[in-house]
Amino acid sequence: MQAGGPGGAPVFPPGFLWGVATSAHQVEGGADARGRSVWDAFAAEPGRIRDGATAAVACDHYRRSDEDTELLRRLGVSAYRLSLSWPRIQPGGRGPADAAGLDFYDRLVDGLLAAGIEPVPTLYHWDLPLPLEERGGWLARETADRFADYTQAAVGRLGDRVRRWITLNEPFVHMAFGYAFGVHAPGKALMTGALPAGHHQLLAHARASAVLRATGRTVLLTNNLTPVEPMAGGRGTYGHGDGNMDRVEDPDLQAARAYDALHNRMFLDPLLLGGYPDLGSYAPGGRTPLDDAVLPGDLDEIHGSADALGVNYYNPTVVAAPEPGGGLPFALPPYTGRHPGTPTTAFGWPVVPRGLYDLLTGLHRRYGDRLPPLYITENGCSRDDAPDADGRVADPERCAYLEGHLHALADAVADGVDVRGYFAWSLLDNFEWAEGYTQRFGLVHVDFDTGRRTPKDSYAWYRAWIEGRRTPT
Ligand code: NOJ
Repeated sequence: MQAGGPGGAPVFPPGFLWGVATSAHQVEGGADARGRSVWDAFAAEPGRIRDGATAAVACDHYRRSDEDTELLRRLGVSAYRLSLSWPRIQPGGRGPADAAGLDFYDRLVDGLLAAGIEPVPTLYHWDLPLPLEERGGWLARETADRFADYTQAAVGRLGDRVRRWITLNEPFVHMAFGYAFGVHAPGKALMTGALPAGHHQLLAHARASAVLRATGRTVLLTNNLTPVEPMAGGRGTYGHGDGNMDRVEDPDLQAARAYDALHNRMFLDPLLLGGYPDLGSYAPGGRTPLDDAVLPGDLDEIHGSADALGVNYYNPTVVAAPEPGGGLPFALPPYTGRHPGTPTTAFGWPVVPRGLYDLLTGLHRRYGDRLPPLYITENGCSRDDAPDADGRVADPERCAYLEGHLHALADAVADGVDVRGYFAWSLLDNFEWAEGYTQRFGLVHVDFDTGRRTPKDSYAWYRAWIEGRRTPT
């Protein structure tokens, strides 16, 4: 369905948040003024990060936050999704908070509010204090309680001015890349042994949620979600779990179902339905380490512990039956294998705006009335951006990416999905984890040698888009 207001303009609900997002470890730098995180230790290991890069300086946002607030103000956003650095607020991961660390966020929040921008902080965007990693990190159940204590310190200082809080960013990606495949910090390759790191993150979310709700704040959990499609055997499957996916015994469809259970449902079903999908049915022997990690009462704590969901959408996923002896119940061929000619980003990720519509309407179908309001907390693309001879950064593909996804979002809203905000990733080019500084996602170009910021064409495009939403056409 094509969304339309007068003249076919996409329509968004009143009070819809228009924003951009960043995360502390990716932009702040200022490593000398905080505790060490698991990412600092990972970056120090040779070969882990492209070009041996570290985030010690990154965009130097720690020292340039006023300049960045001004960039946000000129962009016209109504909200800014940032993250708080746990090792800056509580360097040891336990015990007293660091006053200077809290002061930094206190000033930032005040500056944003003075600029008319709502700060929407994420408490945890993957930068675990190193002392907690040394005690088992997210494989240790105790980390959930440490997270609740840290949440208390953060909300105690900022909660009078900050209404909406995101607990965790992308627990699936953190579990899979950090603990199952070892390509992100802490670099563990435990395969199914990583599943407890997912459960302990959900428990941490629930315990932090109780802290936040006690102060009347609104609690979000942000997940990376993807519509899943079998390589062969039919149409997209997301949200059709009670339909063709269960009836057809096509091996690719079976694999798609397994992948969907792990990537999407593992982090939504406990929250919204009160139980995990049956991951054991895809494992030899019918059990996984998750079964031992879930203790009585955990699911009661987790069930219903989010007031809204953050959705990070980048691309759909095509899934095929596993190679014999591959060890996993699915294989992930490139999307372009099934859909040749699909444009891709510098990362090689397929650009499929329609996937956002499929994802959102699929969530709506799958969870019905149990689905809380949604916010798109990340969406964006990487490109090899560089200023031209005149200093201009032309990024027409990013403008087209944003426009396509915003129309897909409007279509989902028109079809009844309750979405309350959209945050483009990212304000700034930044430290893209294992890829170092090689994947640029910003609406603002950053010269990592000088720190110089140059708004790209997409910055002007997005400003005009937001402005257009304020003035109905
Ligand atoms: C999601 C992550 O939350 C963010 O940190 C990352 O930079 C983007 N994806 C792009 O990969």
